[in-house]
Amino acid sequence: MALSLVEAAERDGRLIVGKPDQILIEPSSGNTGIALALVCRLRDYHLKVVLPTNVSPERRQLLLAFGAEIIDSPGAEGSNGAVRLAQRLSEENPEWVFLYQYANPANPLAHYSTTGPEILADVPEITHFVAGLGTSGTLMGVGRFLKERRPDVQIWAVEPPSGEIVDGLRSLDDGYVPPIFTDNDGEHLLNRKVIVRARESIEWTRKLTEVGLFVGLSSGAAMAGAVKCAATIDDEVSATIVTLIADDGWKYLSTGAWSDDVDDVVERAKSIIYF
Ligand SMILES: Cc1ncc(COP(=O)(O)O)c(C=O)c1O
Repeated sequence: MALSLVEAAERDGRLIVGKPDQILIEPSSGNTGIALALVCRLRDYHLKVVLPTNVSPERRQLLLAFGAEIIDSPGAEGSNGAVRLAQRLSEENPEWVFLYQYANPANPLAHYSTTGPEILADVPEITHFVAGLGTSGTLMGVGRFLKERRPDVQIWAVEPPSGEIVDGLRSLDDGYVPPIFTDNDGEHLLNRKVIVRARESIEWTRKLTEVGLFVGLSSGAAMAGAVKCAATIDDEVSATIVTLIADDGWKYLSTGAWSDDVDDVVERAKSIIYF
């Protein structure tokens, strides 16, 4: 998805391949920020990443490893504070390129043209697609692709309850609705929302190691959502539920998700941003 954002900017002339000293700015310590840092390193662009001061050390280190510059935003304002600061800085510096994953159509398009077709090719019998909602790019892109080909497939979004933190995911009830959600008529595209609490996402993240999967916390949430989806299906009905595991577990080790008391992990996640 990060590569798609950069390639779209190169196609529309906002970025010029090979021109030195081009600056990009993005507020993200998540996979998009880290992947953008990698793409920018390969393309010789300079990436400034706006990060709350309480981001986990793994993420800060990874961004630095790929040569990104880090601009601190107040920890207490969380990810929304980082988004606000990036918006302000990009307005003050109009020559900087702000790809803004929450509003960029290249984000859902990447999932429409890659993730969706991969899922349908591998699981043509799919009846439900359940995925976490962060920017909503995955759900909008995969959802639109599947609905065009299989109008009966149900699209379910996994969200934390308002005010609770599940890294990588957001509640639309917290006041910020990503523009790509609105642009893709998300309210109609989604059949249902399923609420997954931070504790459930940690429990499922841990449980997934029992089948050999070492994955991030939003993947535990997605799995918890898929299990809730399965519970709504009558015994005599056959269904094939696909969910999406967005990340492996390495960047989340300092959460203690696999080793510590679940209550401690939930508490810790309130003060440190792992995504
Ligand atoms: C680990 C993880 N989980 C969930 C998401 C949410 O996906 P989306 O932004 O497509 O809604 C992301 C997005 O980058 C992610 O990296």
